[in-house]
Amino acid sequence: MSIAVNAGPVRQSQIQIQIQPLQPAVSRPVLRLGSSQEDKKKILFVTSELTDLIKTGGLADVSAALPRALGARHDVRVLIPGYRQVVHSGHPILVVGTLAAHAGVPACKIGRMDMPDGLIIYVLISPELYERDGSPYGDPDGGDWPDNPVRFARLGLAAADIAAGTACIRWAPDLVHAHDWPAGLAPAYMHWRGLRTPSVFTIHNLAYQGNIDMSLRRTLGIPHEACGLERMEFYGKLSLLKAGIAYAHRVTTVSPTYAQEITTPEFGCGMDGFLRMKARQGLLSGLLNGIDESWEPHSDPQLVQRFAAHNWDGKRANADYSRQIFGLDRDDSPLFAVVSRLVQQKGIDLTLGVARTIVEGGGQIAVLGQGEHRIEDEVRELARRYPGRVAASIGFDETDARRLFAGSDFLLMPSRYEPCGLSQMYAQRYASLPIARRTGGLVDSIEDGVTGFLFDEPSVDSYRQAVQRALAIHRSPELLGAMRCRAMNAGFFWRHAIEPYDQLYRQLLAERREVHLSPA
Ligand code: ADP
Ligand code: GLC
Repeated sequence: MSIAVNAGPVRQSQIQIQIQPLQPAVSRPVLRLGSSQEDKKKILFVTSELTDLIKTGGLADVSAALPRALGARHDVRVLIPGYRQVVHSGHPILVVGTLAAHAGVPACKIGRMDMPDGLIIYVLISPELYERDGSPYGDPDGGDWPDNPVRFARLGLAAADIAAGTACIRWAPDLVHAHDWPAGLAPAYMHWRGLRTPSVFTIHNLAYQGNIDMSLRRTLGIPHEACGLERMEFYGKLSLLKAGIAYAHRVTTVSPTYAQEITTPEFGCGMDGFLRMKARQGLLSGLLNGIDESWEPHSDPQLVQRFAAHNWDGKRANADYSRQIFGLDRDDSPLFAVVSRLVQQKGIDLTLGVARTIVEGGGQIAVLGQGEHRIEDEVRELARRYPGRVAASIGFDETDARRLFAGSDFLLMPSRYEPCGLSQMYAQRYASLPIARRTGGLVDSIEDGVTGFLFDEPSVDSYRQAVQRALAIHRSPELLGAMRCRAMNAGFFWRHAIEPYDQLYRQLLAERREVHLSPA
């Protein structure tokens, strides 16, 4: 995976790490409304990405936005590895504790970073594990870091240390919420330590499993009992993702449809049987993601021109800008956007298959993405074939992404599977109608013919029909305007989406009070 780093490079001398291990952490709470002090629970988010600091995809957006949205009701703090981009972000870090070594997992320090809006982030400081060039998961050429098992065991273990109070940071969570395979060992270490703190594990993408060699069991301090089929064994390996599923008190995924899909062999990535069992036990649910408040077309400072529903001049200005920077012909043709990781999941090959229909229908395609080199080359080749009509920018650029959502008429998202998808929500907010495969969160967030276009099969033929419907709508300004307005008002903000998380946390905490929780 490749990354975007949101803060420019900072020289070593500019890094502000202060060592102050024995001081109590000063609490600067995020604005909290609507909950009495008593009701507020302490929640620790465990994640490998956070948009403020480091992002490869939607996990970073959720990790940054959901704690802030929940901050109105709870004291939510985030734990993240201290990658170079995190430590050098320019935000001061105060060292507040030390974490002991465990088996072959080294000791490290833990720092606290207070974001300007009050979000508190705990940072694992271990230069040997995290401070390198590259993404959270691999080197700049895309290869996984060989020591990922230890790097992410350290993350899971740190969560357990904090929950157990052994990190000495003077703050212990009532509940731990771990995200995706890099945090999968958090609920596991908590269980092996006999902690009663409830844990939630969220699957953002079942296909990334963190499967490691069985021989690493002792290095990571994993007990023998964990190696069974009903725990973290997975086809002769140990799976960090499966550890999260096995040991957390509740498992969630990021849309109701994906929660069902992953219990089938087609989408289950080999874990469908295990997930069916969790679903039967009532331990698996799908909670639809949301988007943060910055997605406001009438106030987004990153747009070339802002706009509101029915007033499309601003949209046109963003389209002009996008056409110019992508090198597309400057005209009024329907503009189709791709803003995506370029990986198999996203069905880019299908978009290559419908490109001719779009171009012959008078449309243009702008692709902003990066990922697998082979797919990047195919996209470049397509752009060479249709100069002025198809263009590609291989890279990661948040501002250009926003301007392209704002400037485009349609967003192409033919994903083979899509746990939730945020791009289609951002696009709708910016009046770009998504054309998407009927799968996962795309089903739960797009109303076919109302806020976008859905097609059934992961095939060029099925996709082409949806593209033709979109082209037809574009020829009818009234219908296009009506769909744009419906899309803009779809209302995906987190403030409308946090309720199910709040309920889940409260339910788990209430259960813990009543009975001694024992993981399934
Ligand atoms: P996934 O997490 O599977 O990549 P999502 O749709 O949930 O898919 O989230 C993708 C996020 O990454 C969105 O915020 C999207 O705008 C952003 N994104 C993807 N590719 C790029 C890119 N090349 N430049 C800027 N933003 C990108
Ligand atoms: C994953 C999924 C994507 C989801 C995102 C945030 O990256 O691929 O569908 O929106 O996580 O939950």
